[in-house]
Amino acid sequence: MRSDVFNMDCLDYMKELPDKAFDLIIADPPYGINAPNMKMGEHDGYMSTATKCKKGRLNSGGGKLKDRVLNQSDCSWDCEPPKQEFFDELFRVGRNVIIWGGNYFHLPPTRCVVCWDKEQPWENFSQVEMAWTSFDMPAKMFRRGSRGGSVPDMRTIEKIHPTQKPVELYAYLLKIFAKEGNTIFDPMMGSQSSRIAAYKMGFDYVGCELDKGYFDKGCERFDRECKHITRIGGGKIVKQLTFFDS
Ligand SMILES: C[S@@+](CC[C@H](N)C(=O)[O-])C[C@H]1O[C@@H](n2cnc3c(N)ncnc32)[C@H](O)[C@@H]1O
Repeated sequence: MRSDVFNMDCLDYMKELPDKAFDLIIADPPYGINAPNMKMGEHDGYMSTATKCKKGRLNSGGGKLKDRVLNQSDCSWDCEPPKQEFFDELFRVGRNVIIWGGNYFHLPPTRCVVCWDKEQPWENFSQVEMAWTSFDMPAKMFRRGSRGGSVPDMRTIEKIHPTQKPVELYAYLLKIFAKEGNTIFDPMMGSQSSRIAAYKMGFDYVGCELDKGYFDKGCERFDRECKHITRIGGGKIVKQLTFFDS
């Protein structure tokens, strides 16, 4: 079983690959909206994010937010969306592609979007996230709080990245969109939630992360969560783990 990760620019990595090297790519690129610093009532346009980034508005933290990971991190990677070349390479090396933040990028029309409802108890800018997919299937809805949301047990989950998505969300995507024997690629792993889900479900996996700090923390998290696991099903695809039940 393959679980290979690289601390490098995913574009450099993809350029070396043949066409359709991966069965499924699940990408979560910077949306270019400086998401970690967005605040209700100060929406002065997504296009001015470079300016917002320079302000570093919430990174120093304050009030209830001061201990949150996003306020202790360098979030400059979210100031600019990826260039068109990144998307061209995704579609060249992937047979199928899922792109988080699909509503922020110029992508072809699709009927099959995935909506992640974070079940937030109050109105804010991160109530819902949307993924674009290359599949021609009915749209999907995943309802689960992220850490800090309304679901108490999610608050105990270790958070090492400011835009960390739950392992359960990636497991949901793999359950629906991946087939046995598929190799999954995440070009921008962040916390490595996608890697943990793929490993636990028995999929071959390759991932890249540019930032050395996130890369190291992600690898440590992966080791903590996965290295002790005796592979369920001896490497066969496992789609019935408990986190699918609710
Ligand atoms: C939105 S975050 C991904 C969060 C991830 N889905 C998670 O659950 O933790 C985007 C990540 O892409 C990384 N990144 C940005 N540009 C990159 C590039 N060219 N190659 C690889 N990683 C990159 C950033 O360092 C950041 O960690």
